[in-house]
Amino acid sequence: MRILVTGGAGFIGSHFARHLAEQGEEVVVLDKLTYAGNRANLEGVEHDFHHGDIADPEAVVRAAEGVDAIVNFAAETHVDRSILGPADFILTDVLGTQVLLDHARHHRLRFLQVSTDEVYGDVPLDAPACTEESPLRSSSPYSASKAGGELQVFAYVRTYGVDALVTRGANTYGPRQYPEKFLPLFITNALDGESLPVYGDGKQRREWLHVADHCAGIELALRKGKAGEAYNIGGQERENMEVVRRILDLTGASPDLVRHVDDRPGHDRRYAVDSSKLHDLGWQPQHSFDQGGLEETVHWYMASRDWWEPIKSGDYRRYYETQYAARLG
Ligand code: NAD
Ligand code: TYD
Repeated sequence: MRILVTGGAGFIGSHFARHLAEQGEEVVVLDKLTYAGNRANLEGVEHDFHHGDIADPEAVVRAAEGVDAIVNFAAETHVDRSILGPADFILTDVLGTQVLLDHARHHRLRFLQVSTDEVYGDVPLDAPACTEESPLRSSSPYSASKAGGELQVFAYVRTYGVDALVTRGANTYGPRQYPEKFLPLFITNALDGESLPVYGDGKQRREWLHVADHCAGIELALRKGKAGEAYNIGGQERENMEVVRRILDLTGASPDLVRHVDDRPGHDRRYAVDSSKLHDLGWQPQHSFDQGGLEETVHWYMASRDWWEPIKSGDYRRYYETQYAARLG
């Protein structure tokens, strides 16, 4: 198959492109190369590269020539940035998705929208994990834009008969994740002896999913999933402070680096999803967060300063100041 991977220069998209190319699939990448896109992530991956915006129909036509399917990873992805400014999130995550869906509709392509477990919003501690039938209750502008993208998908299936489906992955970790997200931010700060800014009490809970398991789940859904359906891809649920303590252990950094700072507005306390539907298709995660997964990721960041140091010294610094200077005092 020839597959268009949009957002393929980002964290998960580049792992997915690599995963497909290793199986002999033809990979085409369309990526706008925002601050989060990095062509170095695709080093060694055989692919055709198109620099462009998924919200630009002409760029999509050029990149999608001859493809059999589109897997859409392209998105603005960081909750904190969505709180600072939601507009780009609507343009890419909603409008961009609709432009891709139009293309899939007119060229009869299979379309998979990579979404997130954040669309379910806060899951109370005593509530069961969300199934695909649970209501969407977005808390952040990021989550609302991803939910908007999903709703477009379901509308295109129902109205135009497009062969499209959605996956809802949990918090993903592994090599080459941009260091604005919790794990790579805390790992790289710990390695540099910088503060670790824990939002609020740190008792929030997330499910941690290894990027390889996430990619395997997306591929399975692409090959075997039903049009009009959503598939949860869950991980292992851990409290944030538990994760921080593990990072301190693995990096040897001092616990004095931990700073409890002002909480994120609208911060969801817990995400939890039931992945039975994907298990029924045959998905079996291969990585354990506690036994090897987190440790290997920490080791990758220890060995890959040449990847993350240039990122942290550029535009990133300005973002970091805006997001953390007042919080850290
Ligand atoms: P990322 O921020 O690392 O990468 C996003 C990529 O999309 C970048 O390469 C960027 O340049 C590109 N991009 C952004 N806007 C674009 C546009 N308008 N046109 C073309 N390319 C554009 O993101 P990620 O963490 O790899 O996430 C990938 C997808 O997976 C997203 O859709 C995200 O919502 C979803 N997801 C992420 C997680 C997670 O924990 N990271 C969990 C579940 C779902
Ligand atoms: P994040 O990686 O932003 O993902 P999510 O989309 O799930 O919010 O954050 C994961 C968790 O870590 C979340 O509960 C917020 C928390 N967090 C901090 O405590 N401090 C930070 O600096 C960041 C970026 C996240």
